[in-house]
Amino acid sequence: MENLGLPFPYSSFSIHRSALSFGLTLYKIICYSLACLNDEVKAQAKVEATLDGRPVVGTSALTSTSTWVAPVDIRHYLDQKREEVDRFLETIIPDAKTPPTTLHEGMRYSLFAGGKRVRPILAIAAAEAVGTASQAVLAVASSLELIHTYSLIHDDLPAMDNDDYRRGKLTNHKVFGEAMAILAGDALLTLAFELCSRQDLMDGLTPTRQVQLIHELAVGSGNLGMVGGQVLDIQAENKDIDLATLQTIHKHKTGMLIRAAVRMGAIAASATAVQLGQLTAYAEDVGLAFQIADDVLNVTGTREELGKDANTDAQRGKKTYPAFHGIEGARALADQCVGRAIGHLETFDAKADPLRELARYIAARKN
Ligand code: IPE
Ligand code: IPE
Ligand code: MG
Ligand code: MG
Repeated sequence: MENLGLPFPYSSFSIHRSALSFGLTLYKIICYSLACLNDEVKAQAKVEATLDGRPVVGTSALTSTSTWVAPVDIRHYLDQKREEVDRFLETIIPDAKTPPTTLHEGMRYSLFAGGKRVRPILAIAAAEAVGTASQAVLAVASSLELIHTYSLIHDDLPAMDNDDYRRGKLTNHKVFGEAMAILAGDALLTLAFELCSRQDLMDGLTPTRQVQLIHELAVGSGNLGMVGGQVLDIQAENKDIDLATLQTIHKHKTGMLIRAAVRMGAIAASATAVQLGQLTAYAEDVGLAFQIADDVLNVTGTREELGKDANTDAQRGKKTYPAFHGIEGARALADQCVGRAIGHLETFDAKADPLRELARYIAARKN
């Protein structure tokens, strides 16, 4: 190669190399800028798609450590986790031909009617926020859906809310009769505890942790949890309750199972006491946001959108959040809960992004 008589660093080879390196750097800068622009456009589109036109409560595109990470596509996340839960549930529920056939048909009818699977997905996302979700986490998560489905079957009975539609179909008792509906609910409840106590499904969990999980499930769903809340809810019908009473009802009838879901996912993933405390605080705010959103949807939604009859709270003389704060006021309160919930995750990294997005989804959902 010809020497142009320049000092060593500027030899002809060096000049060619510098030019090449400059060109490469320029090329990299252009590619990087285009990629960032593309990501920004995609992130924006995702946030809009996620929020169903409702107000945005921040964005998780940047994590607390300001490291750029791909934003969570919550729709895709929900679909993927729901399919995993459904596939797992299929493996533990007897088919409709297994005697007693009416019972199994009834259990399957409500369980596979198309629920959103919010509680199991919260459990899985909590486990991911702490570490990773395993097969044991999937089993633990699915037990929550069994309890939730039983609570819905019983909630719809004539002796309770007397509803005709659920998850887009006739309610369980409308199809199978009251006795079978009660029994299908009982069987789902019992199966949830059987699932959590199965050794083969709890691979990697110590017996102590397994007992802790069963305890959480019982506390969340029992007399001082969901069932207790249902009692307060029924007793409040046609009464002029105050806001504190309403909050206590919501905290128990909906909040306690959601709290159990997040805690169980975290416990199954070996969360520390500090992490468990933060996730519990997150769950309590998310639980309240969930029920406020449910109250709003009861007023604003249609049967087609909700898969269940709308406006039933007013018909049944139930004083809910919109009655105290109006629709927009209630929505604003749900958004505040979401903001607080996400605030509790401050010390968690990007692995908690699904939890952050789930909180937003829960308040902004349309069904
Ligand atoms: C509805 O729960 C009943 C409440 C606790 C408010 P979901 O809205 O999670 O119902 P599904 O499971 O998707 O049908
Ligand atoms: C249902 O609450 C809560 C439980 C089943 C634990 P609601 O009665 O307010 O909810 P929907 O409207 O029937 O879903
Ligand atoms: Mg009810
Ligand atoms: Mg009801």
